[in-house]
This record gives sequence, C-alpha cells and structure tokens, in this order.
Amino acid sequence: MSDATPAAGIEPGSDPRASVRERVFVVGAGIMGSGIAAQCALAEYPVTLADVNEELARRGLANAERALDHATRKGAIGAGEKESALGRIDVAIGLRRADRAQIVVEAAPEDLGLKRQLFRELQGTASPGALLASNTSSLPITQIAQGLADPGRLVGLHFFNPVLQMPLVELIPGHTSRPEVVERARAFAVRLGKTVVTSRDTPGFVTTRALAVLLNEAAWMLFEGVATKEDIDTAYKLGFRHPMGPFELADLVGLDTALAILDVLWDGFRDPRYRACPLWRTLVAAGKLGRKSGEGFYAYPPRGSGA
Ligand SMILES: NC(=O)c1ccc[n+]([C@@H]2O[C@H](COP(=O)([O-])OP(=O)(O)OC[C@H]3O[C@@H](n4cnc5c(N)ncnc54)[C@H](O)[C@@H]3O)[C@@H](O)[C@H]2O)c1
Repeated sequence: MSDATPAAGIEPGSDPRASVRERVFVVGAGIMGSGIAAQCALAEYPVTLADVNEELARRGLANAERALDHATRKGAIGAGEKESALGRIDVAIGLRRADRAQIVVEAAPEDLGLKRQLFRELQGTASPGALLASNTSSLPITQIAQGLADPGRLVGLHFFNPVLQMPLVELIPGHTSRPEVVERARAFAVRLGKTVVTSRDTPGFVTTRALAVLLNEAAWMLFEGVATKEDIDTAYKLGFRHPMGPFELADLVGLDTALAILDVLWDGFRDPRYRACPLWRTLVAAGKLGRKSGEGFYAYPPRGSGA
C-alpha cells in the first residue's frame, strides 16, 4: 500500500467540501483512533488514519466504517453523510504523511515511552504550526511533552469510547501547553460536536481516575469470590442504572488499557486505591484483552461464526 491510500472504492477528494477544514492526522488506528477518524470525517475534516502496518490501518478504516454504519442505522446520520465521511478518510503507514496535517491526534497504546517517542518524531514530521494532541486516558501531558523542542504545542484531548456516541471530551492543558494551543484544541473538540470539560494535568484526570477505581473494585470482588462476573455486571446495571456492567465495559475499553491506566495511577499517586487486582495482569498475559482480541472477561465469537 502506498502511503495515504484512499478508502477502497471511494475517490479521494470526491467531496468538494473536504478541503474547507484543516487536515487531521490520527496516529494509531485502534479502538479510539478509528472512532476519532470517523468523528472528524463526519465534521467535514479530511483525515489520515495511520498505524504501523497496512493490515492495522485498514482494520481501523473498516472499524470507522462500522461505527458510521451503526450511526446510520440508529438514524443519527444519513446514508449520504456516511458516504461523504468515508470519502474523507485515507490511511497511511507510519508518521511521514503527518506533514500534510494541521491537527495531529495521537491514539497509540497507553505507554509513556511510546507516546514520547511518537511526539519526538512528530515534531519533525508534522508541519511546524500543527496542533499536537494526545488522546491518553491517564498519562500526564506534561510528562509526554517533556523533552520536546517545543512542549507548548502539546495538549491532552481525551475522547470517549465509542467516540461517535459519547458526547464528552476532556481537555487537559499540560503545565507547558501554550494558552492559544489549548484554545485551539477546545475549538476543535467543539467543532466535532463535543462538550468539553477541563481537567488539571494529574494522573487519570477526572474521568479515568473515577473509572479506574470502579473497574478495579469490580475485579477485586470477582477475585475474592464475592459474586460472579454476571451478577456483578447486573448489580451495577440495575442497582446504579449504569448502561454497562464493569466487566462489559472493561472488555470494551481493553483489559491492557485498563491495566496500563491503573499502573499510571499507582505510579502517579502511590495510593493503594489504585493497586491493580492481579486478575488484570493474568488476563492480559493470557492475551485476553477484551472485544478487540475476541475474549476478555467474556468471549466474543467472530462475526459470521454463527455462535
Ligand atoms: N479504549 C478506550 O476505551 C479508550 C478510551 C479513551 C482513551 N483511550 C486511550 O486512547 C489510546 C489508544 O487506545 P485504544 O484503546 O485505541 O488502543 P488500541 O490498542 O485499540 O489501538 C492502539 C493502536 O495504535 C497502534 N500503534 C502502536 N504503535 C504505533 C506507532 N508507533 N505508530 C502508529 N500506531 C501505533 C496499534 O497498532 C493499535 O492499532 C490510549 O492512550 C488509551 O489510553 C482509550
């Protein structure tokens, strides 16, 4: 695949409005990157969705299409809007094509070393005026920006899963983020139709800190044999009107991501509240990462398997 290949069957630039907006470059075509790409394309931004190889980039594009299909079936968008949005997304391998973008959103795995490395490369490849945003759910933005030639360019923009359905974005100014960069990121999120809340740059911000404790407590209860996972999920859903139980939600988030978040909170606060239940590490070591790997706390048979 050449870099920045258009979505299969769709002519690049077929939407005359595509050039009205700045180009967005999304790094990481996983659960979040594919959703962010779909959301940006719906808001008429041309988008490049990048991953480390062709298979992953194309899988991300297919997931973006699936999210847009779902929104169409629910009546949230029209079929024409879906097709126009898809026509605005192309895919790329690596970071080279970031040079065309004015907004870069990083959605690579929750690993401080990896994110630092990516932004070190991006400060060279992305155009000098491009906004750099990380979708980290827990890592302090100031630490991600540490060592960049211009740490003021980087800000946290935390989207929620599934991106098309979740109205919130958490905006996290790092201690070194320039005010105009923060305001540009806020305006971008608002243009995507999101409601923005601002959090200080502490591990887990507002939402992830709350969620981590909720998920971890459920894992500890399962680990201690207090109740089955099904009963714990039902208790949270019917007792608190949560739309999903904690294990269903952990499978959606990804167990590796949930564990990485707990470790970030533990490292950041050294508070036993954030001590990860051993179940997380065991399941992750076994490759049970949740929906994305086909099994987490629950099993997810592949589509079309008839199971
Ligand atoms: N999963 C969630 O519910 C959720 C919600 C909000 C925020 N987040 C955050 O979003 C980020 C991504 O999470 P995710 O759940 O989408 O993870 P994921 O594992 O589904 O996707 C990550 C993608 O990044 C790719 N990647 C790895 N190294 C790369 C590189 N060097 N260049 C380009 N791509 C690379 C991987 O191949 C993978 O496709 C994390 O920081 C996570 O904490 C996740």
